Amino acid sequence: MAQFKTEVKKIGVFTSGGDAPGMNAAIRAVVRAALTQNIKVDGIIGGYSGMLEENFTVLGLRSVANVIQRGGTILKTGRCMEFLKPEYRAKAVENLRKQGIDSLVCIGGDGSFTGALALWNEHQFPIIGVPGTIDNDIFGTDNTIGFDTAVNTGLQAIDRIRDTAASHDRLFIVEVMGRNSGFIACSVGLAGGAEEIFIPENPITVDKVVEKIKAAVTKGKKSSILVTAEGQKPGRAYDLAEQIRKKSGFEAKVCILGHQQRGGSPTAIDRILASRLGAAAVQLLLQGQCNLMVGADGERIVTTPFDQAINTEKHVNKDFTNLASLLSL
Ligand code: F6P
Repeated sequence: MAQFKTEVKKIGVFTSGGDAPGMNAAIRAVVRAALTQNIKVDGIIGGYSGMLEENFTVLGLRSVANVIQRGGTILKTGRCMEFLKPEYRAKAVENLRKQGIDSLVCIGGDGSFTGALALWNEHQFPIIGVPGTIDNDIFGTDNTIGFDTAVNTGLQAIDRIRDTAASHDRLFIVEVMGRNSGFIACSVGLAGGAEEIFIPENPITVDKVVEKIKAAVTKGKKSSILVTAEGQKPGRAYDLAEQIRKKSGFEAKVCILGHQQRGGSPTAIDRILASRLGAAAVQLLLQGQCNLMVGADGERIVTTPFDQAINTEKHVNKDFTNLASLLSL
């Protein structure tokens, strides 16, 4: 956390990294919380690239009308490789200052916060981070904006797959997103009644899973669903299916949910979280606080310095995988 003394007159708000349902609700909260305090807001289109391309747009009260329910991000987003270089960050700050933007709200994940931290360290440009990613892999908040919606989207898919799995007596492997973390897989798997959940943080052997499926078959179970996190690369489900086939002869159907988990109208939980965190980000800037991420700990709004949010691992609840396995007899 850091303090700055300059008066906040115009906030720049942007979304960065993978889009997440609820980002629009967060933008709306930032804009309206600022405008009611007579602080101007510019939207920066396309994340950090927009700073380099001077792609700014004035946001008024009506600019964020009718967006709370919309997925994606009205400000566009992206991952900006140029921003890894200090000379581009210096150019971005020059462009922001030319535009009259004196502080920023960054809605994104840990990669986005790494850029934000650099802007503060190198140029003392005040920024508050709002955690927006479906992956939920950011330390300092119970959940990130978009996680709940992604889990519910994955769950709806599992429920549908279960219908066809049961009708054909089939084994399915459903792969969900989450990059290197298993938060989505754990929640979707437990809520969807999966037989086993594969996550990078808690590897289980294919042998163990094969044993379990065989035992289930002898007990009369005719269809099963395994959930796997994508891990480091999408397509992990196909590797698993092949290993299971080789070890047991069972043919598994593979379903990779992919980017559909990133889209769709945000759930009430995500809209509420986004509204709370977006408004809190503005309040923190007005108090002269920066270089931190705002998060939710139950009913409380909490803050975490960027370097801690970026460098501390958030642990999945491995009990979820054990419980799913235990209950899917
Ligand atoms: O970080 C969000 C996320 O959807 C991850 O779950 C996934 O691994 C990644 O983004 C996919 O990125 P892209 O849209 O660039 O393929």
